[in-house]
Amino acid sequence: MLGSPCLLWLLAVTFPLVPRAQPLAPKDFEEEEEDEPETAWPPLPDVPCDYDRCRHLQAPCQELQRAGPAACLCPGLSSPAQPPDPPRLGEVRIVAEEGRAVVHWCAPFSPVRHYWLLLWDGSGTRQKGPLLNATFRRAELKGLKPGGAYVVCVMAANEAGESRVPPAWGEGPAGAGFPAFGPCGRLTVPPRPQTLVHAAVGVSTALALLSCSALIWHFCLRDRWGCPRRPAAGVL
Ligand SMILES: *[C@@H]1O[C@H](CO)[C@@H](O)[C@H](O)[C@H]1NC(C)=O
Repeated sequence: MLGSPCLLWLLAVTFPLVPRAQPLAPKDFEEEEEDEPETAWPPLPDVPCDYDRCRHLQAPCQELQRAGPAACLCPGLSSPAQPPDPPRLGEVRIVAEEGRAVVHWCAPFSPVRHYWLLLWDGSGTRQKGPLLNATFRRAELKGLKPGGAYVVCVMAANEAGESRVPPAWGEGPAGAGFPAFGPCGRLTVPPRPQTLVHAAVGVSTALALLSCSALIWHFCLRDRWGCPRRPAAGVL
C-alpha cells in the first residue's frame, strides 16, 4: 500500500525536473555567442602609398593619403620652414634635329611649391624656364643650337625659399664636374647630320679647288710666265 503513494511522489518530483532540464540546453548555445563580438582594430597602415617621386604628374603623397580608401605610408619630408633640398636631375633626352631636349627629374624629400629649369649656354647667359607646379617631373628645353654645350639645373621652391645650385660648375677644368644625383648636368647637342654633310661638302670643295688651282698653276701659268730658272737655261 505504501508503494503507490511513494511511486506517485517520486513521479511528481521527477517529472517537473525533466521539462526543467530542457531549457538548459539552449542556454549553453547562448553562452557560446558571447565570445564572438571581438574588438576589431583597423590594421596598421604599413603599406607605402602609390607615390613615385620621379613620376611625371605625380600628386603629392599627402593628397594620396587623404584621398585613398585605405591608410598608406608616405616618405618623410624636411620641414616646410626650410627651403627644399635640390631635386635630382634624371635623364636628359636630346632631340638634336629639332633643337630641343626633354629633361626629367625626381622630387626631393621636401615640401615643394613649384619647379623651374635654369639653362646656361656656352657664353654663360642664363635663361629661366616657366614655373611648373609640384606635380611636374619633366620639362622641355627649346631653341638649342646644334653643336652647342649647355648646363641645365632643376630648381625647386616652397614658401621658405629656393633649393641650392651647386657652386662647383663654371668655366675651365676645375668646374667640369657636377656631383652625381645633383640638380645640374651638362648637355651637349650633337651637330645636325645635315651640318656634318655640309661641312664634308665644304671641305671637299675646298680641297678640290686647291688641287685645281695647283694643277692650273702647274700646267698653264708656270709655262706662260715660266720659272725663274728655266728661261735662263733656255737662253744659254
Ligand atoms: C599642375 O599642372 C597640370 C598641367 O598644367 C594641371 O593639369 C594640374 O591640375 C596642376 N596641378 C595643380 C595641383 O595645380
